[in-house]
Amino acid sequence: MNKKIPVIIDCDTGIDDAGALMMACASERLEILAVTTVSGNVGLEHTHPNTMNLLNLLGRPEIPVAKGADRPLVRPPMKASAVHGFNGLRGYQFAQTTTAAQVALPAAAYMAKVLEEQDEKVTIVALGPLTNVAILLLSRPDLAPKIDKIVFMGVSYQDGNPTPITTFNVLVDPEAFRICTTRGVDFYACPLDTLRSACVGASEVEKIRTFKSPVADFILKTSFAPRQFTDEEIAQINKSGNEEYINRERLELLNKSEKNALLDQATMAFVIAPELFTFKKYYCEVECAGTITTGYTFVDKRNNFQKSEEEKNLYFIETVDEQGFAKLFLDLLGSYEEG
Ligand code: RIB
Ligand code: CA
Repeated sequence: MNKKIPVIIDCDTGIDDAGALMMACASERLEILAVTTVSGNVGLEHTHPNTMNLLNLLGRPEIPVAKGADRPLVRPPMKASAVHGFNGLRGYQFAQTTTAAQVALPAAAYMAKVLEEQDEKVTIVALGPLTNVAILLLSRPDLAPKIDKIVFMGVSYQDGNPTPITTFNVLVDPEAFRICTTRGVDFYACPLDTLRSACVGASEVEKIRTFKSPVADFILKTSFAPRQFTDEEIAQINKSGNEEYINRERLELLNKSEKNALLDQATMAFVIAPELFTFKKYYCEVECAGTITTGYTFVDKRNNFQKSEEEKNLYFIETVDEQGFAKLFLDLLGSYEEG
């Protein structure tokens, strides 16, 4: 068997971070050295315990989890609880909770420790705002050569969420994105434009319903159930620094229109099975001082800026094998079946 790929996973768990962790823990191609948590979809007070409780449910309670930044580098937090629910998991409550996996060091310091201890280069899979990774690169620039690459969910060329032109994980902490793309570490962006088609369709969801495992049940209840918020939750979401306002009408619309694009899951698939994707290197800058364009990632696809190969700083994932991705997702989820 091929050698395993050593990874650190940084996440803001989150329904699709949860799906990505499910895939990572089931994959034989990855060696998960650590998981670190960050504020993003919801606050750290949810993303951190969600991560530990989920690893426990996935049967991997031994993976160390380090708590990271509770806010972006220089901006106030912005949340996506209208998508992920007030607790990040659309209200899902774990039957068993745990804090056993938590390590004492904060995320960036723990990442540094892991990198120092490894002989091999390590891949950082960043599924949320890049705050922790930027702190690592700022505090320990000497460790940049120990990072094989950063694989990031975010960036867009002609698309956006939650605004027409920005992606959440960049918009929340654009300064961190700028740091991570300008420190000489190979940076692979899994952009919204491409990942929109990384979906699991209705027939595949029906197949998942036949899987007999607590993990499949968790994935169905979080990723594939309609958003059902109580009035109290809606009020809580709307006053919590959320990036979009919701009410009953909008919720109904979202539930009707929603396609299951699995963003963080497809990003994890790129690490596990890069053969399902194609990519190309470009020069990219991020807007940090816009009036309405903050977080916009300017990807110079036509090379208008005439940048050399050395100056290009971002690998842009251009295509995804949609069927291959859906199969990988189902295969990994199916591997949790009991008996
Ligand atoms: O809505 C986009 C957010 O959901 C991002 O944080 C992405 O990583 C997913 O978790
Ligand atoms: Ca995420």
